[in-house]
Amino acid sequence: MTSEIVKITKLPVTVKTRLGWDDTTKNVTEVAERLQDIGIQALSIHGRTRAQLYKGSADWTLIGEIKNNPRITIPIFGNGDVDSPEKAKMMRDTYGVDGIMIGRASIGYPWIFNEIKHYFKTGELAPPPDVAMRVATCRKHLQRSLEWKGLVTGIHEMRRHYVNYFKGFDHFKEYRMKLVTSYSIDEINGILDEILIRYADNDLIKV
Ligand SMILES: Cc1cc2nc3c(=O)[nH]c(=O)nc-3n(C[C@H](O)[C@H](O)[C@H](O)COP(=O)(O)O)c2cc1C
Repeated sequence: MTSEIVKITKLPVTVKTRLGWDDTTKNVTEVAERLQDIGIQALSIHGRTRAQLYKGSADWTLIGEIKNNPRITIPIFGNGDVDSPEKAKMMRDTYGVDGIMIGRASIGYPWIFNEIKHYFKTGELAPPPDVAMRVATCRKHLQRSLEWKGLVTGIHEMRRHYVNYFKGFDHFKEYRMKLVTSYSIDEINGILDEILIRYADNDLIKV
C-alpha cells in the first residue's frame, strides 16, 4: 500500500507505526527497512504494540536500535509517553532519535512544544502559562473548533480539552461540569470569564 502511495505522488510520504502487532510479532525493524527501501522520507515509531493499546509504558529500545541501524538513513522519530522537556531530552539523548512526536501531553497543553524547544536551547525550564494565557488559548481553540467542525461537533470535541487546559486547578470540577454540558457558546465563554476571575491570583501552574 505504501509503495503505491509513494509512486503516485510527488509529495514526501512519511509513515507512523507501532512496534508490531503483539509481543510475539514485533517486526518494526524489518518494516522500517522495507519502508525505507520503497521510498518513504521519514518514519515515526510509537514504542508499543497494537495489542498493548496504551497499557504499560512505551519501550523505546527498538526505536533506538532502528535509529542506530547502519542500513537506515531516513529520519527516525520516537513516540510514546513524552510529557515533559526533561523526558524529551532523556529520550533524545538515550536513543539518538531525529525527532520526537507528542500526542496526549499536548491535549489541552499546546505549550509543551515550545517548552521543549526552550529547554533544548537554554537548558532551563520555561515558566508555565498563566491563567489568562490558558483561558485565551482555550477560547481561541473553541472558536477554531466551531469554525472547523460546526456548532455541535465543535462543542463536543472541545469537551475533552477543558480539563487539561486547567489541570491542577483547585476545585475546578464545578466549572468543568458546566463546560462539558453546555451547548451555548455565550455560556461557555461566560464560564471561561468566571475561571479567569476565580483563578487570576493562582501561582503559575505546571501540569
Ligand atoms: C485522541 C488521540 C487520537 C490519535 N489518533 C491517531 C491517529 O489518527 N493516527 C496515529 O497514528 N496515532 C494516533 N494516536 C496515537 C498517537 O499519535 C501516539 O502514537 C500515542 O498517543 C502515543 O504517544 P503519546 O504517549 O505522546 O500520547 C492518537 C492518540 C490520541 C490520544
